[in-house]
Amino acid sequence: MRTDIAIDLGTDTTRIFKNKRIALSKPSAVAIDNIRGVGVVYGSDARAMIGRTGDRISAVSPIERGTVADFESAQMLIKQYISDVSGKKMIRPRAFVAIPGGTTAVQQRSVMDALESAGARNVCLVESPLAAAVGLGVDFSTPRGVTIVDIGKGTTDIGVLSMGGLARCESIKLAGEDFDTAIARYVRREHNIDIGILTAEKIKKSIGCVMPRPLDVGLYMNGLSVYSGLPESFEITTEEVYSIMLPIAEDIVKAIRGVFDRTPPEMVADTAEDGLYLIGGSANVYGMSEFLSKNLKVKVITPEEPTECVIKGLGGAMENITILKNGDYRYTSLEDLVIE
Ligand SMILES: Nc1ncnc2c1ncn2[C@@H]1O[C@H](COP(=O)(O)OP(=O)(O)OP(=O)(O)O)[C@@H](O)[C@H]1O
Ligand SMILES: [Mg+2]
Repeated sequence: MRTDIAIDLGTDTTRIFKNKRIALSKPSAVAIDNIRGVGVVYGSDARAMIGRTGDRISAVSPIERGTVADFESAQMLIKQYISDVSGKKMIRPRAFVAIPGGTTAVQQRSVMDALESAGARNVCLVESPLAAAVGLGVDFSTPRGVTIVDIGKGTTDIGVLSMGGLARCESIKLAGEDFDTAIARYVRREHNIDIGILTAEKIKKSIGCVMPRPLDVGLYMNGLSVYSGLPESFEITTEEVYSIMLPIAEDIVKAIRGVFDRTPPEMVADTAEDGLYLIGGSANVYGMSEFLSKNLKVKVITPEEPTECVIKGLGGAMENITILKNGDYRYTSLEDLVIE
């Protein structure tokens, strides 16, 4: 029986591909019983507990900025999610795993280690823009450059592909969560109200934008007064949120330009003609594709399901072994890695 799986361990969401479909898509969050040292709650329920637990339980996000930040909790999360998709008949699977571009050997080891100690037999690490290109079904076998920009929660990954592989791949630590922290900071400073990061994210998703919206609307939310420490509601408007989010979007553009500067000019010229593919959850930010198009002066192509390209591509590559033909990508285990 086939046991291979593909995993995209995102800062926001863990996605698993198995048996030709996305078998799991759950928040990368776990609540741990500190006395027993075991994970007790996973996924959305654990995420809702972040910032709300007492001494006995701690709720954490094991993945930060696209890499393993807390080894033990990452291992618990992966183990739980692999068993969720495998049922009782779990045979140690081989795993295709997405990693951000430009990760260090130490970060790669840590992902492999977490996967292996969670039960994976062998692991094949694939940079997420390459997986995304497979998922999008774009032809990157020719010398013509194809550019993918993946704006997730913790990282923005930029990959330029040609001749069947990555010509340039970088990961910037600036993405969706930076909008949330900026909104929370602003509300504290301007409204004297403390809000959690989940409330800030809700504000972003409902009225956030990086291009002006046609109508300025207000949203009422609750937080804690900085002065009284008591619950208080406040109103925040589209225009305010636009002014908070705009500088971050501008920084993302600057970073993408920086990557273009380090990419062979011919390939950047191809992107100027053909456009770039924008994926990741933050592609859903109102005005994001228009903003990138205006500031980078390229056409921006957004697929219907921007958060699924990486996992679909990983799964596709795993099943057709398209990228395994390239010697850089093969199943290995920690034992095979040379320690320098
Ligand atoms: N409608 C929306 N409007 C604004 N932001 C959104 C929307 N939907 C999702 N997001 C943001 O997208 C981000 C999650 O994207 P995604 O699922 O691609 O992240 P990830 O793959 O888990 O993280 P990463 O790749 O950075 O490790 C979150 O920051 C979330 O707030
Ligand atoms: Mg991602």
